[in-house]
Amino acid sequence: MYSLQEWLCEIGGFAATSLQPAAGAHGELTGILIIRAYHRDRGDLRRTKILIPNSAHGTNPASTAMSGMEVIELPSDERGNVDLAALRAACDDTVAGLMITNPNTLGLFEEHMLEVVEQVHACGGLVYGDGANMNALLGIVRPGDLGIDVMHYNLHKTFSMPHGGGGPGSGPVGVCEKLADFLPGPLVEVIEAGDEDEAPLFGLVMPAKTIGRVKAFHGHFGMLVRAYAYIRMQGKSGMREISDHAVLNANYLRVRLRQTYHVPYDRICMHEFVAEGRWEQAPGIRALDVAKRLMDFGFHPPTNYFPLIVHEALMIEPTESESKQVLDAFTEAMIKIAEEARTHPDILHAAPHVTPVGRLDEVKAAKDLVLCCRPAELGEPAKR
Ligand SMILES: Cc1ncc(COP(=O)(O)O)c(C=O)c1O
Repeated sequence: MYSLQEWLCEIGGFAATSLQPAAGAHGELTGILIIRAYHRDRGDLRRTKILIPNSAHGTNPASTAMSGMEVIELPSDERGNVDLAALRAACDDTVAGLMITNPNTLGLFEEHMLEVVEQVHACGGLVYGDGANMNALLGIVRPGDLGIDVMHYNLHKTFSMPHGGGGPGSGPVGVCEKLADFLPGPLVEVIEAGDEDEAPLFGLVMPAKTIGRVKAFHGHFGMLVRAYAYIRMQGKSGMREISDHAVLNANYLRVRLRQTYHVPYDRICMHEFVAEGRWEQAPGIRALDVAKRLMDFGFHPPTNYFPLIVHEALMIEPTESESKQVLDAFTEAMIKIAEEARTHPDILHAAPHVTPVGRLDEVKAAKDLVLCCRPAELGEPAKR
């Protein structure tokens, strides 16, 4: 755990890291609570606003709202960047910080990142980096060097598992020097340095002004082991290769698919790009239908409907681990699905066809939770 903390500090350019948060969204909540604690500690109680670009992942405003802060949405410009004029207008002494994802959820590198950071710092705010897209930056750019004050990693995306791989997540949070005292604990620290014959003595330490624990025990420990092993296996040079391949794979797919699927922000992308799952010639078809049909071809469907600024969004994020053969098979499946959308839309509407269960009622699953199951003879389980 100590090594992983240290490596994440090095990779992101941070002074300290806590491994506690259970997932990306939980890391965001933790980071915003740290920002809040920092301002409060300085007696600056007016800062209650967090600025968030409208290209953000849905968890960004959700976790910010959960922290009790007010979400202020910023528009994007026509190239998918934060609109600098709108940012300037929003910056004042009530701003606690900005939450920004770079590359953003369009898969685009923020072209004015340094100006954005400078602007927020100039008004006394802090910059939160949503590090879920670190796949694109490993070994190339350190968010801490760009001026980001606090950032979560999605270990389950960047260090071992493609997006949507399932299972638990882990969202460690790295911070700059001035926020280190506010991190959730315990952290693992060297209590007594070792020497040639003796290993150092490690201990668990609570930072001086900690926001407290955010997770029982030490977070999702299994995921920490997985990330530790992946980073160790890749080594320093492997870090850069991860990003090189993830970015190359995404651009390969973008260029192969852009004749068939409209890519609204069509410029060199990072590790993902966003296409539209809709066509004028196939009026009844939605991104959801494309995603469900992909399952029949053996592909895990991409995230759809995020970011909100793209209609019927399909966010395509191949990761570093897919071979050219897999990317080609994916492209062929996508092209075939686009053809079916025009010629046999019913196939898409009824998809998936080969999975043990068909289309689930996702709204019911969220609104009508059944949290326990028991044998039929005991009747329906209690509902919440
Ligand atoms: C850009 C971005 N931010 C935040 C998250 C949230 O992470 P998690 O699903 O681990 O809560 C994701 C998830 O994919 C993401 O893509």
